[in-house]
Amino acid sequence: MPKIAIISPSVRKGRNSHRIALYLLDLIKGMNLAEVEILDLLQYNFPLFNERLKYQDSPLPEMIDFSEKIKSADGVIIISPEYNGGPIASLKNAVDLLTDEWRRKPVAFVTVSDGNFAGTQAIISLQFTLWKLGAITVPATMRIPNIISAFDENGTPSDKQATDKRGINFVRELLWYIEAKKRMAAPE
Ligand SMILES: Cc1cc2nc3c(=O)[nH]c(=O)nc-3n(C[C@H](O)[C@H](O)[C@H](O)COP(=O)(O)O)c2cc1C
Repeated sequence: MPKIAIISPSVRKGRNSHRIALYLLDLIKGMNLAEVEILDLLQYNFPLFNERLKYQDSPLPEMIDFSEKIKSADGVIIISPEYNGGPIASLKNAVDLLTDEWRRKPVAFVTVSDGNFAGTQAIISLQFTLWKLGAITVPATMRIPNIISAFDENGTPSDKQATDKRGINFVRELLWYIEAKKRMAAPE
């Protein structure tokens, strides 16, 4: 069974984007699509970036844990709320910590906003960053406008049927890349 890590990046009081992380966790578990866990940046509470993890003399245990979880995941879903047209700082702060962990890692993006545009502008620089790091960026995205009415605080969607259809298609795209990578895996 493949392993998927979902990065939920918002550390904002009253955050809304965590709802979609909870939804995808339930969906993936419920459909038995993969082993799945949420990497919650609010809980990790990383300090402001001052060096890549591999160059740090005494990295925090939380950073090592984050690195190991990304390393051991077969694929990653990044939830990306949009702040002022770009990715949120807490997310970039965590992405930049790691280097080789991202290499050839299938990564799929969920864009989120509380307005009509689903935060789709932020994804451009985010995809570019992950591409620079050597990740396999999955072209399929899940775009969530109006997050507050689309999901309740526990991640239950207001339109379950339509959301599940989109959610399953999205996760299956990530699984396709995970499987493709597995088939191409060459001996080290
Ligand atoms: C500083 C800040 C800037 C924002 N800028 C945008 C924006 O450019 N485009 C947009 O669609 N929503 C914007 N929003 C609204 C967010 O999409 C909304 O707050 C969403 O719920 C963000 O995720 P969060 O609640 O988990 O932090 C902004 C919110 C904040 C706090």
